[in-house]
Amino acid sequence: MSDGLFTPPYPVPHKSKASLFKRFLTGWNSWIHTLFDRSYTMQMGEIRLPRLDFYIANDLNVVDQVLDDREKVFPKHEFLNELLDPLIGNSVFSANGKDWEDQRAMVNPAFAHTNLKRVFPAMQAAVDDLLAHIATLDRSNPIEVDPLMTHVAADIIYRTIFSVKLDQASADQIYHAFHRYQKNIQPGAMLTLYGLPLFGYRKRARRAAADIHGVFGPIVRARYDAWHGGGGTAQADILQSLLEARHPETDEAFTYEKIMEQVSTIFLAGHETAASAMTWSLYLLSECPHLQDALAAEIANETEGAPIAFEHLRGMNGVRNLFRETLRLYPPVSFLVREATAPTRLRDKLLPKGAMIVISPWLIQRNRNNWKCPHAFAPERFDDPEEVQACRHAYLPFGKGPRICIGAGFAQQEGMLILATIVRAFRLRYPDIARPEPVSRLTLRPMKAVRLWFDARA
Ligand code: HEM
Repeated sequence: MSDGLFTPPYPVPHKSKASLFKRFLTGWNSWIHTLFDRSYTMQMGEIRLPRLDFYIANDLNVVDQVLDDREKVFPKHEFLNELLDPLIGNSVFSANGKDWEDQRAMVNPAFAHTNLKRVFPAMQAAVDDLLAHIATLDRSNPIEVDPLMTHVAADIIYRTIFSVKLDQASADQIYHAFHRYQKNIQPGAMLTLYGLPLFGYRKRARRAAADIHGVFGPIVRARYDAWHGGGGTAQADILQSLLEARHPETDEAFTYEKIMEQVSTIFLAGHETAASAMTWSLYLLSECPHLQDALAAEIANETEGAPIAFEHLRGMNGVRNLFRETLRLYPPVSFLVREATAPTRLRDKLLPKGAMIVISPWLIQRNRNNWKCPHAFAPERFDDPEEVQACRHAYLPFGKGPRICIGAGFAQQEGMLILATIVRAFRLRYPDIARPEPVSRLTLRPMKAVRLWFDARA
């Protein structure tokens, strides 16, 4: 890989570990802003906070050991679950042990509806609506992309769960409420870690979560009541599978509250992350006109001018590499959190019972010992035989082991379809303003709105 590559923005790490107070201030809004130089390359780090000690595992063998969790001693940490609780409660994302196994068994059939071929028409319909919406926007000014990507990703998963499309007002409500949720939960998390009072942050986060639930709660209620009252007609969607699910041992159905938790999980996990990835992809493209032209040629070659079909995506290697490289540089889930349920030795550290173990795709995917020019944007690295090892072992935007993302294929397919559709229709340009800065809260997002010029492609 040659030099002269584009290096997109990232917070330049501090030279050395900052004081506890400084880390508190910088971590207030974004976890990745507390990192220092060695955070990227050390094998195992230890950070002491007033309420908790936590360990950062970068050693890839330790990463596998913790995430594969063959001995079942590294469940998801309660701290992360507390951050997510107002949104998703105790669901398939947050549960642990036997409870998780039972929930997975009940939820698995619902994921048949995310089968890639089966879901393609819903994706296509949502993407057609996106293009129609862009056509109504004033393109004599740069357009804010994050709400557009949130809407299309939310619309796709909404159609898959409920068989209806998501209207603009609901999409806006979800976008703003989730933004408020993230803004309040991150300081809330910092205050918890430092053992300080919460000053209403959690309350405000709860109100934001309630606004999100308010969008689909009435649909779930109506269908739940109809189905259990014997008057509902079966639909071919995720909600229907959840209504029909039975506990593997007790044969009990999900309660309304439990369905709301699973639906909230699938809806949020299914769009927030994907929207973040697509926003970053579009930004990266806007800085690389040559790549846009190369991708437009690839898409034209695959489709021969026809609408993009399911079969075309397989041949779009450049678009796939763009999506993968975006997830390497800007992993929407930038840290995974596990708990040591017994005293455990990991490399030279003896972790006490209850210790938090953080595994960070952000750090592992930007570690110069794993990747060449790790901060550079180079989608072609995914075709480079010298980087095969890194792609296999040091690439985990979807996690690893038994808790790996259930929607990885779905996300890649919608990402490719949306990116290919936009590249085919527009040339993107980044305006002459400061570059977007990533901040990491629950997901990794640009700190300020990313606005791009959308020039129609001839
Ligand atoms: C670019 C998009 C996405 C990214 C980066 C992503 C990332 C992740 C990661 C890192 C995990 C594991 C978390 C951990 O181990 O602590 C996860 C789990 C999960 N994801 Fe995704 N995800 C994406 C899209 C999706 C989609 C589209 C769906 C649904 C259609 C989905 C549903 C889930 C579920 C249900 C889990 C929990 C699985 C379990 O623990 O049994 N995700 N995701």
